[in-house]
Amino acid sequence: MSSRNDLKWSDVTPEHVWLNRRAVLGGMAGLIATPALARGYSTDEAPNTFEEITTYNNFYEFGLDKGDPARYAGQMTTDPWAIEIGGLVDRPGSYDLADVMAMGPIEERIYRFRCVEAWSMVIPWNGFQLSHLLEKVGMQPSARYVAFETLLRPEEMPGQRSRILDWPYREGLRLDEAMHPLTLMATGLYGRDMPKQNGAPIRLVVPWKYGFKSIKSIVKITLTADQPLNTWKQSNTREYGFYSNVNPQVNHPRWSQASERRIGGGFFSSRQDTVIFNGYGDQVAQMYAGQDLTKDF
Ligand code: MTE
Repeated sequence: MSSRNDLKWSDVTPEHVWLNRRAVLGGMAGLIATPALARGYSTDEAPNTFEEITTYNNFYEFGLDKGDPARYAGQMTTDPWAIEIGGLVDRPGSYDLADVMAMGPIEERIYRFRCVEAWSMVIPWNGFQLSHLLEKVGMQPSARYVAFETLLRPEEMPGQRSRILDWPYREGLRLDEAMHPLTLMATGLYGRDMPKQNGAPIRLVVPWKYGFKSIKSIVKITLTADQPLNTWKQSNTREYGFYSNVNPQVNHPRWSQASERRIGGGFFSSRQDTVIFNGYGDQVAQMYAGQDLTKDF
């Protein structure tokens, strides 16, 4: 499998940012470049450790315990891997992973990640904008949503042998959400290929939505005119909606969403207030202007 995640900082800095910074630095002889300055889409909060990010997971295909994905995901074959892209697109087909990964420049993005279970992490992803993929395959004018599906392979995914969810795991985004520059097809983290428990070889990351929208191990992408099914809404319509935007004012029927536990830090593991759209409101709130987010939850 190609390993485009093995990148140096200069490789993952968008070119215009890189050039810009060099221009600025040219006028400030003697100063040393601080990469943090260039990370337009990244938070400056400290990332969780690789260990934390890869041992506390939700990937129900491998079991319900947070440690199950790290324990059992090793049996999932991820090479070869192809994604079936279809529906309302100009160039439908089965695309090899290497071709998908070449659809947009791979960048590093350090994102806050907020699970609906009221815990959070900070994760340095590698990936490319989903918008680049959608542009490459060509969106037809009638396309309004994007539907995603995870691999269905019960021989390698023990959780799929029981009916805890209606497999395969499915998710969906409205087209404007899918085209938003924050929305990533993530192919790695901490500069390494995506660990299997985190959704190898390629998964979605939508940082202003609850983590369950960030579907793992994607094998199918379909553009549709109608709002597609998403697994958690399908399993419990009262508790989970389609939008699933992080919102401290809209509680889950069984627990509050007002605060969250930041994973890690041991004794200092901290509770913090949850922020609307997980802190990405400046960038995404306008997409929901005029919508009642207590109804479209
Ligand atoms: N994708 C699939 N296929 N199966 C899952 O069970 N769990 C979701 C999401 N994507 C899940 C999934 C949930 S609830 C969360 S919080 C995130 O994956 C967890 O991602 P992480 O383990 O990389 O932190």
